[in-house]
Amino acid sequence: MILYINCCVREESRTARLAKAYLDKLGKEYREVYLPEEDIQPMDRQRVNRRMELAGKGDFSDEMFRYARDFANADEIVIAAPYWDLSFPSILKIYIENIYAVGLVCRYTEEGEPVGMCKAEKLTYITTAGGPYVSDYSYGYLRSLAMDFFGIKSTRLIKAEMLDIAGYDAEAIVQKAIDEL
Ligand SMILES: Cc1cc2nc3c(=O)[nH]c(=O)nc-3n(C[C@H](O)[C@H](O)[C@H](O)COP(=O)(O)O)c2cc1C
Repeated sequence: MILYINCCVREESRTARLAKAYLDKLGKEYREVYLPEEDIQPMDRQRVNRRMELAGKGDFSDEMFRYARDFANADEIVIAAPYWDLSFPSILKIYIENIYAVGLVCRYTEEGEPVGMCKAEKLTYITTAGGPYVSDYSYGYLRSLAMDFFGIKSTRLIKAEMLDIAGYDAEAIVQKAIDEL
């Protein structure tokens, strides 16, 4: 099943619209995790210690691993996140902290080499930007995580940019991105 990680905060989100059009085009069943409404917490001292203790025992049954389990077992990953402050909304970083459980999404060899453990072959990152989109700290980061650590073999970027610049027709740009899917 496709895991759709929706990080679009605004009600009238253009990123979510583009993502929905992509999912409709795929025409497959998907499960959505709407991060702005999830009870998902950053890794504080207590949670890090507990995670290390459980992961050390190879026990991933705890509720705290639910996001990591779902991510590792998904057939395909779709992430929709607007371009915020050269990156993405912080809720996505919190999600990444929560899924990066060594022993579930990734393991390390004795030489310290990461070996991906995720089932998905493909991750698609969908974004829209107010100005020109620079992928380094958003798609670029997710692509490194997916390919170098999670074992996801291919990634794709779908974007629409310049949406908040005077003189640019945001509606036409989004529609063009949808038509080109
Ligand atoms: C908190 C915040 C930070 C933003 N930071 C950037 C930015 O760094 N660069 C940029 O080009 N646009 C930035 N924008 C504009 C958004 O990228 C743009 O409006 C995008 O289309 C919003 O997506 P949405 O319609 O899905 O909410 C920012 C918008 C917000 C609300």
